[in-house]
Amino acid sequence: MAQKKLFQPYDLGPLHLSNRTVMAPLTRSRATSDGVPKDIHVEYYRQRVGAGLIISEATNITVEGRGYAWTPGIFSDEQVTAWKKVTDAVHEEGGKIVLQLWHVGRISHPDLQPGGQAPVAPSAVKPEGKAFTEAGFKDHETPRALEEAELPRVVADYVKATRNARAAGFDGVEVHSANGYLLDQFLRDGTNTRTDRYGGSIENRMRFPLEVLDAVIAAWDKEHVGVRISPVTVMGGSSESDQQTLFNAYVEELNKRKPLYLHVIEGQTGGDRDKDGFDYRALRERFDGPYMGNNGYDAKLAIEQVESGEVDLACFGKLFISNPDLVTRLEIGAPLNDWNKDTFYGGDEKGYTDYPSLTAEERARYAQAA
Ligand code: PHB
Repeated sequence: MAQKKLFQPYDLGPLHLSNRTVMAPLTRSRATSDGVPKDIHVEYYRQRVGAGLIISEATNITVEGRGYAWTPGIFSDEQVTAWKKVTDAVHEEGGKIVLQLWHVGRISHPDLQPGGQAPVAPSAVKPEGKAFTEAGFKDHETPRALEEAELPRVVADYVKATRNARAAGFDGVEVHSANGYLLDQFLRDGTNTRTDRYGGSIENRMRFPLEVLDAVIAAWDKEHVGVRISPVTVMGGSSESDQQTLFNAYVEELNKRKPLYLHVIEGQTGGDRDKDGFDYRALRERFDGPYMGNNGYDAKLAIEQVESGEVDLACFGKLFISNPDLVTRLEIGAPLNDWNKDTFYGGDEKGYTDYPSLTAEERARYAQAA
């Protein structure tokens, strides 16, 4: 049987990937309180190097951008040094890894902010739900609306984080413009009620995310910058009155900048892969570059979608948590380890680096049966 395209090499811009699977960005909350990755991070990413491309867990560009306890950052020298160990390990094993640039905007809490200040956002609209702090879950509070004069400073934070990611040896960065975080908050009319140049029309609401993207591209280059969007996901109660028109327009603008890839979460992030009510193909038609599909992929769906050209790259999230050698298992049809939700966030190596890979003997046995 000819090898499926999913398992064949793929040239993503300047990056030669060993296959078309991608390890999705996965928040695991195991860094220090100062956002420094530990040795277990090195081991965790090294174990998952069978992915054609690894996207790092969402990584804070500043303390202000932080919304969850023990998430890593990319703003201090100590963080850069620690991430360098991760990228070295991935490269030693022949893998590729990009860093996801994260600013959560209003999805935070004063306990996680510098000096206990209110989180910042496009507008003072309080999110639903609770923030994950070191002292447990706490209700979100009303954020402070960013002044127009402050926006260049936030853009500069993205630029610094991009330079740091490059210095830390990453193969590129992904601009997180999804899941109800800062850039998505600017895009949506439920979270952006500004009356200046950054609010109101779709063109105005896209302005800040595009300024960020342009600055990140200027700081590195377009061949090292991907973008992630989640057109229908409502996290923290973020809403949008016309998702299709907004995201069609946004993808047209993204396309003009020719980023490395477009990463699209199809359906509710981490949940239902219900694609009804949104035309994802309309996005694909508007984007000339590589299209990365995400959400609810299993081997069958990923093989089909890559084979048919529906997507260029297929992301796996939770399956990569519990199966370090996921790609080998998918390729030979070996059984998959179940994941344990209790150890997704926080803690140590338990539920992080202790999921077993197949032994050589098991691998040979399943390969023969395939
Ligand atoms: C999460 O921690 O649940 C999380 C983080 C980043 C995302 C989505 C979810 O983009």
